[in-house]
Parts: sequence; C-alpha cells; structure tokens
Amino acid sequence: MPRKALIAANWKMYKTPAEAKAFVDAFLPLVAGHDRDEIALFPSPVLLPTVINAAKGSNVAVGAQNIHFAEEGAYTGETSVGQLLAVGGTHTLIGHSERRQYFAETDEIVNKKLHTALKHQVIPIVCIGEVLAEREAGQTAEVLKTQITGALAGITAEAAAPIVIAYEPVWAIGTGKTATPEMAAEAHSIIRGEVAKLLGADVAAAIRILYGGSVKPDNATALLSKEEIDGALVGGASLKPDSFSAIVKY
Ligand code: 13P
Repeated sequence: MPRKALIAANWKMYKTPAEAKAFVDAFLPLVAGHDRDEIALFPSPVLLPTVINAAKGSNVAVGAQNIHFAEEGAYTGETSVGQLLAVGGTHTLIGHSERRQYFAETDEIVNKKLHTALKHQVIPIVCIGEVLAEREAGQTAEVLKTQITGALAGITAEAAAPIVIAYEPVWAIGTGKTATPEMAAEAHSIIRGEVAKLLGADVAAAIRILYGGSVKPDNATALLSKEEIDGALVGGASLKPDSFSAIVKY
C-alpha cells in the first residue's frame, strides 16, 4: 500500500477569526477535488470552531496545535482532547519544537499526550527534530532515536496505525534554510528504521513521516518526490491560500 501524503498547515499564533475564515473561503476552491493527498489545517484553539465550520464537508481536515494529556482538570490555559473533539477537530500536533523549546515539553510529556490522543481517536502528528548544535556535532541520528523512543514508549503495534511523525530539523524552521531532500530522506529513513525496531516492519512501512522546515512552493516538489517523505508540515508558507495550495498540488 503506498502511503497517502498529508500536507499540513501549522498556522502557529497567527490569524484572527475573520482572517482564518477568509483563508478557508479562498483556499477550498483551490484544492476542490484534490484527493491525491490529505490536507489538514492547524490553527490556534480560538480559531478552531471558525475554521472547522468553514471547512465542513470539504476535503480539508482541521486539528489543534497542542492538547493536554489530562482528560480535564485545573490546567489553566490548556485545551483537552475532549474539547477538541467536541468542536469537531480530528487531528493534533504533539511536541512541536516550539512547544519543546518555549514550554518545556519533554519526550515524557509528548508520550503522555500521544497516549491520550490515541485513546480518543484523535490523529496525532508527533514532531521531532535536532537543533543545529546537535547536527553539527554529528548527533542527529542519536537525537532522533531518543525522541522517537521516548514518544512511542508503551505504544503497541496494534494502536500505532493513526500515528504520523513529522521530522522538523529545528535549524530549518522559520529560517529559510531547508534540509536538502537528501538530508530529509536520510533522517526519515533513520526514523523509519527506529519505528521498525520498536513496533515492527509492518508499522514502519505504513507510518507516514512528514518533513517540516521552510517548505515553500518552490522546494516542495523536490522534497515531496522523495519516496521517504510522506508529506509536509508547513509554517510560514501555509498562511496564504495561494502558496499553501501550490504546496498541496506540488
Ligand atoms: P516554517 O515552514 O515557517 O519553517 O515552519 C515549519 C514548522 O514549524 C511547521 O510546524
């Protein structure tokens, strides 16, 4: 079975509800009938109802940028998986490098969030990736192995089918520096090899691994035509309907 690519927009902390609605209204006609790839938008929590309603009945899924691992409770400022489901969200990012860097998310927290997402049938996109100093010190493979092992702790092969992994080298995020398609493909095959060790060859062959980090319309084709690269997680270039639809239709 070939892996169906997923092209995902991480809007980070951008857009008002009016801007988000205008994006979806302009974007849907640009990707109408496109079913070669899955498409998903990840707006801020306050935008979720607006974006979900605007995208209802379309080929565009909507998810959260983050969830809490607890089902509910006294966690000021957080969003639960039940709240996400109640407004119609189907996916969530987990462990984005900005969450790790600015909000102290560890592999252990990522793992707890992954268990919670899977328990509630929310499709998780688990983000991993090395920082520049780690790449320069030749530690990329080690870092990826540690992150993926930590993220997948206690996950069984039977439960793993919905999991998507995003490889986002931190030095390529928002910097305009993209990993070359060869660098990305090499990292993806390290990750897939590790998934095979942890969850078996079948899960590894089926799991989708997205690339993220300065994906733009002009580099999307080179990246996405690599067999190891099963989609993209796009930041800056996902904020405009034209550039994001160009990436979707690479
Ligand atoms: P940029 O595409 O802006 O580099 O962001 C990548 C990213 O962090 C997506 O999650």
